[in-house]
Amino acid sequence: MAYNTILVERRGPAAVVTLNRPDKLNAMSSQMKTEVASALRELDADPGVRVILLTGAGEKAFVAGADISEFVGRTAAEQIKLYGMGTVYDAVDRIAKPILALVNGFCLGGGLELALACDLRIASERAVFGQTEVNLGIIPGGGGSQRLARLVGQGNALRLTLTGERIDAREALRLGLVEEVVPHAKLAARAMEIAEAIASKSAVAVRLAKAAVKASARLPLDQGLRYEQQLFALAITSEDKEEGVRAFLEKRDPKWRDR
Ligand code: COA
Repeated sequence: MAYNTILVERRGPAAVVTLNRPDKLNAMSSQMKTEVASALRELDADPGVRVILLTGAGEKAFVAGADISEFVGRTAAEQIKLYGMGTVYDAVDRIAKPILALVNGFCLGGGLELALACDLRIASERAVFGQTEVNLGIIPGGGGSQRLARLVGQGNALRLTLTGERIDAREALRLGLVEEVVPHAKLAARAMEIAEAIASKSAVAVRLAKAAVKASARLPLDQGLRYEQQLFALAITSEDKEEGVRAFLEKRDPKWRDR
């Protein structure tokens, strides 16, 4: 499919989705949100793609938020209609394949919410983070109030959300908001290393493992433990389990069949 506001390219086992409005610091217009969501659905269904990488074009920004100009004059009814059509944040959250945010610069407001919906956040040393909606007289509306608190704890989430302050990559790492910080020039290479490590495993196991871990944010512990057991039972019947276990016992590398 052809897109106007994003770039989609294949790199080895990964697909890279680049939000591409660098003159506006990749602020997400409605069109961009729709295009990201539909590209992600397409890539999730593409068997050749094992991992999805999400990043921003240019040297300054990952995503500097939703496009603020679209907020002017918006009514509650319009906002509810937009939510009813499904959000880009939900689209990221529903991807079954691993999805990594490569945070290459400003990651503010809706940009942070986009990164929070991803599975891993790898940040350049130049990245700047903020849950900055309060500066505009609004609040996070793309899942930020819920996902940020789950990732960094309620106290840190309240600190960022109530002050609207911006923090650097080192502080984001200290809070647990990102999983790794790397030199700016090494961001893409490090993300590819992680993508290749994931792609070298059984696609079945990766998919089930992601589903199990993501359920931990949604389910009470008892239900989560039962759900894990059901997914484990699925994994134990896979061809890849037979291959993985045999390969270990025969002291050789496994040849995954992804089923
Ligand atoms: N929505 C719409 N446009 C945005 C934007 C956003 N979220 N963030 C940046 N832009 C635009 C600016 O209006 C400017 O456009 P212009 O050149 O047509 O005037 C362009 O991107 C460059 O931004 P600028 O502010 O000039 O860059 P800067 O380096 O001086 O400042 C920021 C960078 C990120 C600090 C600043 O742009 C900013 O505070 N942006 C808003 C961040 C925010 O609150 N996001 C949450 C929204 S939910």
